[in-house]
Amino acid sequence: MLQVDLTGKRALVTGASSGLGRHFARVLARSGAEVTVAARRVAALEETADAIAGEGGRVDVAALDVTDPGSVSAVFAGAAFDIIINNAGVTHDGPALATTEEDWARVIDTDLTGVFRVAQAGARRMVTEGRGGSIVNVASILGLRVAGHVAAYATAKAGVVQMSRALALEWARHAIRVNALCPGYIETDLNRAFFASEAGKALIKRVPQRRLGQLSDLDGPLLLLASEAGAFMTGTEIVADGGHLVSSL
Ligand code: NAI
Repeated sequence: MLQVDLTGKRALVTGASSGLGRHFARVLARSGAEVTVAARRVAALEETADAIAGEGGRVDVAALDVTDPGSVSAVFAGAAFDIIINNAGVTHDGPALATTEEDWARVIDTDLTGVFRVAQAGARRMVTEGRGGSIVNVASILGLRVAGHVAAYATAKAGVVQMSRALALEWARHAIRVNALCPGYIETDLNRAFFASEAGKALIKRVPQRRLGQLSDLDGPLLLLASEAGAFMTGTEIVADGGHLVSSL
């Protein structure tokens, strides 16, 4: 495994109860960070925390709903973080013509406004403590190109990419770096069955590397942005997608 030393750093990972967030928390803990795993489902977070503690990592659990400003404030009232992985996200799959106000609002409030809420609350704490830090906002290749039936999600993720640039510009003077991580299709428990289907296999054929990403494919990009290895990187995005964005027109 790539070795980056995050000893002495405190990291927050939102949406750490499953998928990418759970993996990101483990990777940061293996690199020495003390990690707070946060999401709405505390029981599922306990599983993440047990896995990290079982590997000798230092981990706390925090209940967090990124759509609730009071919940976000409470997490940062209790602790300051050097590294924030803004990973919590939801999607809505359906044609734009059939997307309701509620569908749209749920995705934008979680994936775009929620990312801002967490970044702002975290940065305020970093500024107060004069400690600087790194904020990694998890966007998607759908923030850079589009696909059908994900209008709200693609719009939110494009907003996350641009937000990361805007916040990087304002917060560089406080030694806070803000970057976006844009994964392509990564295999997780939630999508494994779909990618085994005919439609899923057809999708994988459009990826130049002809494969799905594995969670471990994101370790290098994550640690680069989170650690001092990326000290001169801010306001940018890293794409990890097996070449999907450059698929042939
Ligand atoms: P997932 O559904 O397994 O994980 C999402 C996490 O966010 C869960 O822990 C969930 O509880 C949490 N969450 C949702 N709403 C929340 C809220 N209001 N407050 C706090 N936590 C909340 O999905 P996955 O695939 O692990 O996605 C994680 C991130 O990675 C998302 O931002 C997603 O858009 C992004 N992503 C995923 C890709 C993939 O192929 N799996 C590709 C590109 C981006």
